[in-house]
Amino acid sequence: MEYTHLGSTGLKVSRIGLGAWQFSEAWGITDYNTAKSVISKALEVGINLIDTAMVYGRGMSEQFIGSALKELGVKRDEVVVATKIPGDFLAYRDVFKAVDRSLKRLQVDYIDVMQVHWPPCWHNHPTCEYMRALERLVELGKIGYIGLSDFPVELVEAARSCLAKTDIEVLQVRYNIVERQAEKEIIPYAEANSMTVLAWSPLAKGAVLGKYTLEDLQKISDIRRNDALFHPENYEQILKLANEIKRIAEKYGKTPAQVALNWLLGYSSVVLPIPGAKSPEQVEDNAGAAGWRLSYEDWRRLDEISSSLRITYVIW
Ligand SMILES: NC(=O)c1ccc[n+]([C@@H]2O[C@H](COP(=O)([O-])OP(=O)(O)OC[C@H]3O[C@@H](n4cnc5c(N)ncnc54)[C@H](OP(=O)(O)O)[C@@H]3O)[C@@H](O)[C@H]2O)c1
Repeated sequence: MEYTHLGSTGLKVSRIGLGAWQFSEAWGITDYNTAKSVISKALEVGINLIDTAMVYGRGMSEQFIGSALKELGVKRDEVVVATKIPGDFLAYRDVFKAVDRSLKRLQVDYIDVMQVHWPPCWHNHPTCEYMRALERLVELGKIGYIGLSDFPVELVEAARSCLAKTDIEVLQVRYNIVERQAEKEIIPYAEANSMTVLAWSPLAKGAVLGKYTLEDLQKISDIRRNDALFHPENYEQILKLANEIKRIAEKYGKTPAQVALNWLLGYSSVVLPIPGAKSPEQVEDNAGAAGWRLSYEDWRRLDEISSSLRITYVIW
């Protein structure tokens, strides 16, 4: 495994993390022992950053992680837990209440990274109200570092201006070889400000792996059912990219997931993909995306094909 530092801190994190949304009804892993086996394998192959959220299974994902880390005897400094507080829980007092519950589910004394999951677009909480609550929790030792998820740069700036003693270390955003909007603003901003970009859906929810045929799309019953990437209009194009990823993977003796994730690592040193895994095999496979690099020519070939895709989100 390759390691880097989280943002401008000295905290050592693996270049590939583990996304834990899978431990919820949305993705179907609701059995604790399966989740534990995924977490155990992740740690075994050197992944030390786990990304979860309060809303994943309404606490189930955090609870599974807390129990697994405890049962596996993982020492507190051997793992970096990043969770998220939803945009709905951002009233000043609610921030403390939500963090208290998260600490309890995760069975820890402090949370390494607390990310605001999305801006409070429905409740209109002033940005400085919740940022000051989070900063207070850093001061009190209950949060290590603060991150923002799905925040545009303008709002990141607004959030940073509220902080007196700490700064934002993590920006989390959707980023995969098909959906590359983060390259326009978020990644350059993170590079200029020494922040880590946690790339969510780094495998495009599996779409870039080409493991589903066009006919399979009708059978999808999980969260991907309404995902634009799995709409035939888009998926048909993505299959072209998936075929090239497969070809390149064979050439390197790697898997499609490893190539798709490695491409992201090659784009910028601040990008840290957090692929979700439903089995120990998948997590082990994903960990193998680090420690090597695609040649410039192969990286560019995928860049060109990806840039030629015309993905639309207007699917109904
Ligand atoms: N901040 C946010 O708003 C936000 C939003 C979404 C996700 N996230 C975070 O990002 C993480 C990852 O995103 P994601 O779950 O949306 O998508 P993803 O990581 O792009 O895709 C995960 C899915 O791909 C398949 N897969 C994973 N590894 C594989 C492998 N090696 N070989 C073959 N198939 C493999 C699995 O599904 P199948 O086996 O069923 O195909 C898995 O459930 C989440 O767990 C969560 O922590 C954050």
